[in-house]
Amino acid sequence: MDSNSGNSLYQSAQSDRLAFWADQARALHWHRPFTKTLDWSNAPFATWFEDGQINASYNALDRHVIEGRGNRIALLFEGEPGDTQTYTYQELLAETKKAANALLGLGIQSGDRVAIYMPMIPETVIAILAVARIGAVHSVVFGGFSSDSLRSRINDAQAKLVITADGGFRKGKAYGLKEAVDHALADESCPSIENVLVVQRTKQDVLMTSKDIWWHDALAKADHEHIAVGFDAEHPLFILYTSGTTGKPKGILHTTGGYLTGVSYTHKNVFDLKAETDVYWCTADVGWITGHSYVVYGPLTNGATQVIYEGTPDSPSFERWWQIIAKYKVSIFYTAPTAIRTFMKIGREIVDGHDLSSLRVLGSVGEPINPEAWHWYREVVGGGRCEIVDTWWQTETGSIMISPIPGAFKTKPGSAQRPLPGITVGIVDENGVPVKTTPKGSEAGYLTIDEPWPSMLRGVWGDPERFKETYWDRFPGKYFAGDGARFDEDGDIWLLGRIDDVIKVSGHRLSTAEIESALVEHRWVAEAAVVGAKDEITEQAVVAFVILRQDALDDAPGEANIAKILRSWVSEKIGAIARPRQIMVVAELPKTRSGKIMRRLLKDVAEGRPVGDVTTLADSSVMKAIDAKLHSGATD
Ligand code: PRX
Repeated sequence: MDSNSGNSLYQSAQSDRLAFWADQARALHWHRPFTKTLDWSNAPFATWFEDGQINASYNALDRHVIEGRGNRIALLFEGEPGDTQTYTYQELLAETKKAANALLGLGIQSGDRVAIYMPMIPETVIAILAVARIGAVHSVVFGGFSSDSLRSRINDAQAKLVITADGGFRKGKAYGLKEAVDHALADESCPSIENVLVVQRTKQDVLMTSKDIWWHDALAKADHEHIAVGFDAEHPLFILYTSGTTGKPKGILHTTGGYLTGVSYTHKNVFDLKAETDVYWCTADVGWITGHSYVVYGPLTNGATQVIYEGTPDSPSFERWWQIIAKYKVSIFYTAPTAIRTFMKIGREIVDGHDLSSLRVLGSVGEPINPEAWHWYREVVGGGRCEIVDTWWQTETGSIMISPIPGAFKTKPGSAQRPLPGITVGIVDENGVPVKTTPKGSEAGYLTIDEPWPSMLRGVWGDPERFKETYWDRFPGKYFAGDGARFDEDGDIWLLGRIDDVIKVSGHRLSTAEIESALVEHRWVAEAAVVGAKDEITEQAVVAFVILRQDALDDAPGEANIAKILRSWVSEKIGAIARPRQIMVVAELPKTRSGKIMRRLLKDVAEGRPVGDVTTLADSSVMKAIDAKLHSGATD
């Protein structure tokens, strides 16, 4: 983007913020135009474009076909085993129409919830768009989550249908998904589920019961025509569960018109998209918000051509991503700092061997990108000529909030810099007072978003109190993001990580409380405390401290084995991403006199620092014992 168009966005947003957002929304197709932009009178419950009607699937597909872009490639799919598929917008629409009719045939109606538990394959995108097309609400559950996690999400949303696959390919092998669904549904434990729709991806043997229907059979029988109707702008589009400070994941609710406005606007401007010529690739799985906003809704609404890749970066070797970029001439690439740091460690030769001259814009998301990784990304991957956009946002914000806009101003390694045009953020102290800025910048404080924005979450599914409490009560009138931040001497924002008990492992969001509850569900464990310890590659790693039950000590194996078994237990309970790097068996946990576990001290131990101030502990010898144990090497 030339600096003029970037700057004019800032100017028009500044001169009339709501008119600016209404203009962005009007870039979409509305079945019924809206006349109202924002209603914030019932804050924190916002409505945007309330009297308009819109269909997300129509905007992602039909519109391009009707406006003559039907032959443009929408998806360039690369399976992990090397199989490929290409879908034009026309073809993707045809499949989505059949899938929408198949869903209707199974009795799915507007407002019903549909769980989607899939690998990264084109059918996943089709399933999402088919659900949205008929006004049903998708709840995508990342395929790496366990059957327990799937079950609790299905039950919380009272989903009627699960769309899954027999399995997918990962690290050179077929893994199973259908069996995890069977396990989640066993013993009538998800009574709301009426059917399971199964895509055949790996052709492994799966058990098909009377509830189960093959996707290809259902689509073969389905009518080919489906006319998309408009739904109210505030009609729920999806629920996506994310970890918070308590043990129970929250179902973050996004609605249609505002969300679509936010993702299409940011996707176009932050990545400087030229839809006719760019090839875009975001490496996120659709199971996360980045996949929802920047694999499905943003790129497709903007008519982009994009790559989707099923597997891991190292399959069959660490050449894979760079081969894909060269093969498809990817021009916009969006990934997480953990991946960059992994490649940095392996060495630049693996990247240098490929022609990456097509790249133009490089994005980063999910965790702070350290300046070393930023420079490496720019020089080694981007050949020193690409724009780097470090994009800060959250599941709750729906779309990117803080990021440079290419060409609008000079980028700075390690800083996400400025809120996007239309977004107002602040940094406040403990009491909600804006931090003082001096010529040297500001102290660290809490990041807030100070005015409502179209793609903001509309609630926590089934729990309006939790929505208010978590995000709006801390600093009345402002959205509390849960991140620390500070301004530097130029007024640019530096994100400093979470200030609550949420941890980020390889850009994935986990809750210490959720891992603790998984641990105490094991019969050997009496108490557990989990912290996120600094990790060179993954940003943070899970470290757990457990106290064993006295009555378990007789039949439990030695400590090294206990740790090993408990690490696998956490994988089974939540998913492999939550598997602790280390588990220490301890006799006591450090607690205050009121019984609160002092995780700060455990973090010191886990990160190998001298233990901080222990004066508020009920028993100050506890930390000495833990420290001594660590240094004796008696841990996993
Ligand atoms: O701590 C921030 C971090 O990721 C959190 C949101 O996680 P999630 O909802 O899983 O969404 C991730 C993808 C948008 C934030 O509270 N985070 C995300 N992007 C950045 C970041 N931290 C620093 N810099 C970023 N660019």
